[in-house]
Amino acid sequence: MKRFRKYRTDQRTRDEYSEVLLKTDDLIYPYFIVEGKFVKQVISSLKDVYHLSIDMLLKDIEEVNNLGINKILIFGVIDKSLKDETAKMAYAPDNLVSRAVKAIKNKFPELIIITDVCLCGYTDHGHCGLVIDHEIDNDKTLPFLSRMAYTHAKAGADFVAPSAMMDGQVKAIRTYLYQNGITNTGILSYSAKYASNFYGPFREAAQSAPAFGDRRTYQMDFRTIRQSLEEIKTDIEEGADWVMVKPAHTYLDIIQRARQEFPDTQLVAYQVSGEYMMIEAAADSGYFDGDKAMMEALTAIKRAGADKVITYYAKKLARMLINKT
Ligand code: PBG
Repeated sequence: MKRFRKYRTDQRTRDEYSEVLLKTDDLIYPYFIVEGKFVKQVISSLKDVYHLSIDMLLKDIEEVNNLGINKILIFGVIDKSLKDETAKMAYAPDNLVSRAVKAIKNKFPELIIITDVCLCGYTDHGHCGLVIDHEIDNDKTLPFLSRMAYTHAKAGADFVAPSAMMDGQVKAIRTYLYQNGITNTGILSYSAKYASNFYGPFREAAQSAPAFGDRRTYQMDFRTIRQSLEEIKTDIEEGADWVMVKPAHTYLDIIQRARQEFPDTQLVAYQVSGEYMMIEAAADSGYFDGDKAMMEALTAIKRAGADKVITYYAKKLARMLINKT
């Protein structure tokens, strides 16, 4: 008889044989920024996540920084009255995200700041690209994404993260940044981003739900596998530094394939709002221990092959990792 139970006799032994270890360095914490002062507004769809004005954001980052988290992802959330068909506020100089980036860089120069680059939070119709004759126009959207990325990069973002799923977006952004003298800003591309039901809670947080139709003409169909590898390969060729699979917990097979196919590229996975809230809702109903389920889900994402994980759990996990040691 082959004996396996000797690997599991007690905590010390189980720890010794463990092969996957989550670290605070692996985590990227998302923020939703709004205009104003002293704003810390509950987001009802996304537990323990807030709309923060820049002053309150800086306070919160102090906590994040003390926990040892060194990477954040920023989403701007603007008033509906400022949204229009060409998403002007996405690339207006000194816009909300640029001011937030400058303020963070000033106070926390060590932090790696990643900004989401997508038009959906800024267009009046809520689509990720320009709508022309009721269609999302890929090529006409590219210059707008490029200008948005440039605005963020100029403000000091370390990475810009295009998430619109427009073809050629990485190349367009890379070229535009170089043409305008920006050579040190990285691109984290949302390369394999599926049209997922699990983004539901986010759309309230970002106030970016599409007013008509859905995102299935640009985000990937969840019945596809091979396209994800092609998307990632193309983004790397176009100049992406880091690539992403999204969602994460329900797409572990895609993460694993991406890891095998691109062993030398930093692979990020996004545990999205619905994946987060599913655990929270089940824990609130008493179906399981939320902390333990969180640990299991995030470990699975890393076990599948992700180098870094974007997660609303970053603070909670970092706290747990500190208390363990
Ligand atoms: C913007 C964007 C979305 C998410 C990240 N960037 C929403 C979407 O594509 O509809 C989802 C993140 C989450 O659900 O936590 N395009």
